[in-house]
Amino acid sequence: MPIKSTQITTKDEYLSHWQMAHEVPQEFWAKAAENYEWMKPWDKVQSGDFNDLEIKWFEGASLNITANCLDRHLKTRGDKTAVIWESNDPNEAPIKYTYTELHAEVCRFSNVLKEKGIKKGDRVCFYMSMVPELLTGVLACARIGAVHSVVFGGFSAQALAGRIQDCQAKMVITCDEAYRGAKTIPLKAITDEAVESCDTIETVLVRERTGGSITYKEGRDYSLLPLIKAAKDDCPPEEMKAEDPLFILYTSGSTGKPKGLMHTTAGYMVWAGYTFENVFQMEENDTYWCTADIGWITGHSYITYGPLLNGATTIMFEGVPTYPDAGRFWDIVDKFKITHFYTAPTAIRALQACDINLVRKHDLSSLKVLGSVGEPINEEAWEWYNKEVGKERCPIVDTWWQTETGGIMITSLAGVTESIPAHATYPLPGVNPVLVDSEGKTILGNPGEGNLCMELPWPGIARTIWGDHKRYKETYFTTYPGKYFTGDGARRDDKGRYRITGRVDDVINVSGHRIGTAEVEDAINEHPAIVESAVVGYPHEIKGQGIYAYVICQPGQEETAEVLKPQLDALIMKMIGPIAKLDFILPVSGLPKTRSGKIMRRILRKIAAKDGNNLGDISTLLNPEIVEEIKKGAGL
Ligand code: WT7
Repeated sequence: MPIKSTQITTKDEYLSHWQMAHEVPQEFWAKAAENYEWMKPWDKVQSGDFNDLEIKWFEGASLNITANCLDRHLKTRGDKTAVIWESNDPNEAPIKYTYTELHAEVCRFSNVLKEKGIKKGDRVCFYMSMVPELLTGVLACARIGAVHSVVFGGFSAQALAGRIQDCQAKMVITCDEAYRGAKTIPLKAITDEAVESCDTIETVLVRERTGGSITYKEGRDYSLLPLIKAAKDDCPPEEMKAEDPLFILYTSGSTGKPKGLMHTTAGYMVWAGYTFENVFQMEENDTYWCTADIGWITGHSYITYGPLLNGATTIMFEGVPTYPDAGRFWDIVDKFKITHFYTAPTAIRALQACDINLVRKHDLSSLKVLGSVGEPINEEAWEWYNKEVGKERCPIVDTWWQTETGGIMITSLAGVTESIPAHATYPLPGVNPVLVDSEGKTILGNPGEGNLCMELPWPGIARTIWGDHKRYKETYFTTYPGKYFTGDGARRDDKGRYRITGRVDDVINVSGHRIGTAEVEDAINEHPAIVESAVVGYPHEIKGQGIYAYVICQPGQEETAEVLKPQLDALIMKMIGPIAKLDFILPVSGLPKTRSGKIMRRILRKIAAKDGNNLGDISTLLNPEIVEEIKKGAGL
């Protein structure tokens, strides 16, 4: 049976598409790819697998993703609004770009990059706040074939430097300062500090935003806006091979320094476009708002590429949910008559804790679909979101995915398949999840619970860790050979619907931000009085998980948590950034260790969660007596 379309409009269609994508993946994804313009067709839809790790999609094809995000829409949607930018300051006028204007702006930016010596394959690092030029700059890179690497503006100089060095970027694009609610963040000053240790950087472009005082280094630094203004608005899209790198995005894992996940052009494009279309089910005149930052994968796939590939209107918000007050999100929904609203559980919980009139006084009747992403959404937050924001008439899509997956993997489809509280529910066509037990045995039948893996490659999977294919293999494909291991645990109900229970590895999810415990420990261990530390996550009402640090001080240099807190946070701010600040510190005299010297984190996690009666077998510990002391210290 020939595949007519990959657009899903009913649950039966969802079921049959999932089957088709499973049985005849090559035909299925060839059909999905027909929605786009290619400069050269592919020879083979897919090759490579989770054993050889030479995964390729649409090999032989050439294309440019921005020709598909921009040029392709000019005839039919040239005057349609592509992007609306909303300032941190509610009184500053929004900036709107039609598809025609966005196309011209991206071309101008592309010409600036070229003028400053950026060529196909070069890496360009963005360290900006949510100004329009972050979006147009990323697209400008894609247009000329440069590889963008966006670093979230909340990371420190040291974290930024590490990422620049790792991908050997030639250029950094930053702002003078960022507005963030009532605060400003000195992005240029931080960039200056970072670039001191980055000898690959030739040029720094500065988008002036606040007018704060900064210094320009002669011959290296240039003000961005005048350059864009002066550039020609025509720049032909570079012909890219299907598997040419599109971007690198760094994320934390259980060990070592952050990994630069590399996404490539064709597969990522098809996945971002396909998932956006089917998950959100937008109509032509709808307006979509994803509240993420482009510094994270959500902002890449679902502020920038996914919506633009579909010719949608996407909102870009510079500010924070609580400025000037905690009604800001609802004010913006009302202001732009948002129909599709996509945010994170941590924001929902934070706003849920505020005066309900901040929600109720706004007109939210434009809303049709609500989305959640970034961490498990608890039932209470789900119910509140459904009742107070969606007025019980908007389907909620709880979308599970990762930086590594490129796009949404497990979710309900808005208005097409059922939404149930706290459940991501069904895998998208092309997604083949399995649950495995700790021995790697597949859990068959429903219901079931285990570690979440994927059995087959989908178009959007990251192809490698930049410069370290061996680490890619070790991180994702060796725990359960032949399978991609997500690092998450999940339950499957009697109908085969998934509920993600959270990370099962040493990664903490704080307000939807992924933080590696090892990175935080490294920062803490820089403190001269600290001998050793162990960091775990624990349940936190607003952030989902908080960061709990057990620290051992040098004999004779014991300090209280109160004294240590600002000192350790300062180290964390320096090495990582404010997102990894500690929520709880417990000074201890030792840590529970196995006979081989490994810290028993399981015990530390339980104690941090105030679950001290359920520690399991501790008799195999080298120092079982320490457990009682730690429990006492934790108030158990
Ligand atoms: C981790 C990935 C996906 C883009 C933003 C975060 C957790 C993400 C959900 C969800 C439960 C979720 C997982 C995952 N996560 N979405 N809907 N339900 N957990 O991307 O920084 O790569 O983090 O976020 O633990 O592994 P990321």
